[in-house]
Amino acid sequence: MQNNPTPPETKAWSGRFSEPVSERVKRYTASIPFDWRLAPFDIQGSLAHARMLERAGILPAEDLAAIERGMAEIRAEIEAGRFGWSLDLEDVHMNIERALTERIGDAGKRLHTGRSRNDQVATDVRLWLRDAIDRILALLRQAQAALLDLAERHADTVMPGFTHLQVAMPVTFGHHMLAYFEMLARDAERLADCRRRVNRLPLGAAALAGTTFPIDREYVARELGFEAVCENSLDAVSDRDFAIEFLAAGALILTHLSRFSEELVLWMTPRFGFIDLADRFCTGSSIMPQKKNPDVPELMRGKTGRMNGHLVALLTLMKGQPLAYNKDNQEDKEPLFDAADTLVDTLALLAEMIPGIRVKAEAMRRAAAEGYATATDLADYLVKKGLPFREAHEAVARAVRAAEAQGCDLADLGLEELRGFSALIAEDVHAVLTLEGSLAARDHIGGTAPEQVRAAVARARQRLAAG
Ligand code: ARG
Repeated sequence: MQNNPTPPETKAWSGRFSEPVSERVKRYTASIPFDWRLAPFDIQGSLAHARMLERAGILPAEDLAAIERGMAEIRAEIEAGRFGWSLDLEDVHMNIERALTERIGDAGKRLHTGRSRNDQVATDVRLWLRDAIDRILALLRQAQAALLDLAERHADTVMPGFTHLQVAMPVTFGHHMLAYFEMLARDAERLADCRRRVNRLPLGAAALAGTTFPIDREYVARELGFEAVCENSLDAVSDRDFAIEFLAAGALILTHLSRFSEELVLWMTPRFGFIDLADRFCTGSSIMPQKKNPDVPELMRGKTGRMNGHLVALLTLMKGQPLAYNKDNQEDKEPLFDAADTLVDTLALLAEMIPGIRVKAEAMRRAAAEGYATATDLADYLVKKGLPFREAHEAVARAVRAAEAQGCDLADLGLEELRGFSALIAEDVHAVLTLEGSLAARDHIGGTAPEQVRAAVARARQRLAAG
């Protein structure tokens, strides 16, 4: 086998040019400082491509064997952190190709037959993202399971439910946690749906128009575990919708986590005093000795900003790009990588933090008892006795004002006084005015009655197990 070494400073495309690029251009256009992360997927994609070339009679069998051997060595070097990445070689694709050629000679130079970096990079990013989605989905499930455990433990724990951040009706803390379970369940569905469109093979599109070689794209798709090939070569190399979809799903995940975090922060202030967060998730102040700050949820809330930023970055990146590949696309990687890292770190921490939430049930109950949270129950009670709802609403509103003037709760007003607002009120009213009575009465699918919360947890566990 003939071996023609190429000097490292020579670009793969330098034959066309009379002078090398300037140092500044080299630094500006290189993606190796970040796209080295694609290396395992680049190798995986190259091996599938090489096997296809060999099967199609385009690449000699001994070249394939050399490529497989060379790639195995390169992979081991990269994994061991011994691979020398070169800025001169611009990106991960050319770094690996050059290392291969240095090892195995001309067989390495034949690898790029019928392929372009345009379909290569699109394939690498899709393989990388599919893997990232699978890791994120697993972590989402861990966080969901932690929410279910907490919900089950607090299926009976009363807290005030809020609208407008004003006490509205009693709910159980378990019910409140299940609301977040539902949000994360939708997030998981969205990611799984996005994964289907990530999981298509661009290879074979070559630079933009396809290739003159008798390639077998279906074989490569199967080798790489893709569900199908991208149908149109121009679309295959220029499409980044799948990345935008991932970022949109990620932004929504962080939006949900931000809302959860905001509640934890609020509940942890002594003004609420509903929860305490284990010390290992909080930090102190360098000046105020009394402080215990909920830094972790605050930071989770803050991470939403960068996720939203990444989504807008990619939407803007694609807007106005003519078909097909443009160098602009190189800018897709850093937002994607950072988004995946942020999601992985945040979800892993969330799953760990949820069991560290200590519920202060007494404070929650006191707050629920303070805000006339059972006023609607009294109105419903009057409706059941035949009063039109609008009149019932009116009567109860007057009762609330009276209680407020006396600084007491509705349940503290005597029966005679209550009857002053409606003669329909009888002995049985006090069961309706209690927090437990109010909860138990919301006894239907999706309601906050403790029995319903327990049933919802059981159904949710089944859903989670079914994937
Ligand atoms: N580093 C490039 C990227 O990330 C690889 C594709 C380069 N293709 C090209 N025609 N210059 O997009």
